[in-house]
Amino acid sequence: MSEEKGPTEWSAREVGVGPWPGEWPTGPDAARYDPELLEHGDRRNVVDVYRYWRREAIVADLDSRRHPFHVAIENFQHDHNIGTVVRTANAFAAAAVHIVGRRRWNRRGAMVTDRYQHVHHHGDVGALAAFAAEQGLAVVAVDNTPGALPLESAELPRDCVLLFGQEGPGLSAEAQQAASLVVSIAQFGSTRSINAGVAAGIVMHSWIRQHADPTQAW
Ligand SMILES: C[S@@+](CC[C@H](N)C(=O)[O-])C[C@H]1O[C@@H](n2cnc3c(N)ncnc32)[C@H](O)[C@@H]1O
Repeated sequence: MSEEKGPTEWSAREVGVGPWPGEWPTGPDAARYDPELLEHGDRRNVVDVYRYWRREAIVADLDSRRHPFHVAIENFQHDHNIGTVVRTANAFAAAAVHIVGRRRWNRRGAMVTDRYQHVHHHGDVGALAAFAAEQGLAVVAVDNTPGALPLESAELPRDCVLLFGQEGPGLSAEAQQAASLVVSIAQFGSTRSINAGVAAGIVMHSWIRQHADPTQAW
């Protein structure tokens, strides 16, 4: 039998970097570095270009390169997918995530990415729609409801809020009414729907394919 290690062993490898080797950084960019991280190492869930950076410096840099799409999810029954949505929104540099309904959400799936992502709360869909109108954002509802356009051929607006429903009820009637466009993801199996966090990842990536500049990805 081969002695070669498999994926489980690879993932046990320590993530990140140890203490900064040698002289600490000086000059105009020195303020972005966190002395604690320089001294003790940086094991955070961040891409390597942000190693040793202060959280505020990372957020400021992300703010200079965020995409103009927002993501919103209804949270009237404590949806457990919100952490996943926040993490994916962070990975694709969404402008912001909006939680509609209950303020509390389960942060576990976010893997601490919410520290680098703007997350706003709206009491109801009307408040989210007012925000979108004020910011000039089209509301794009996502659900497999009758009359929805297939995502696979739909053109997503560049400046938009992608609005998702929650497990169980799906998108509320208010959310469907607030939308200027409703899109659905083609399915081919027996299940009625896919997980809301997975659906959010698929639709965010459709936006990326249509509007983002792949040369700017890490
Ligand atoms: C689990 S689904 C719930 C409800 C679904 N309308 C049903 O008939 O059972 C939760 C959310 O995931 C997203 N979703 C799941 N499957 C989808 C699909 N095939 N197309 C578009 N959105 C989907 C939508 O935002 C939806 O509101």
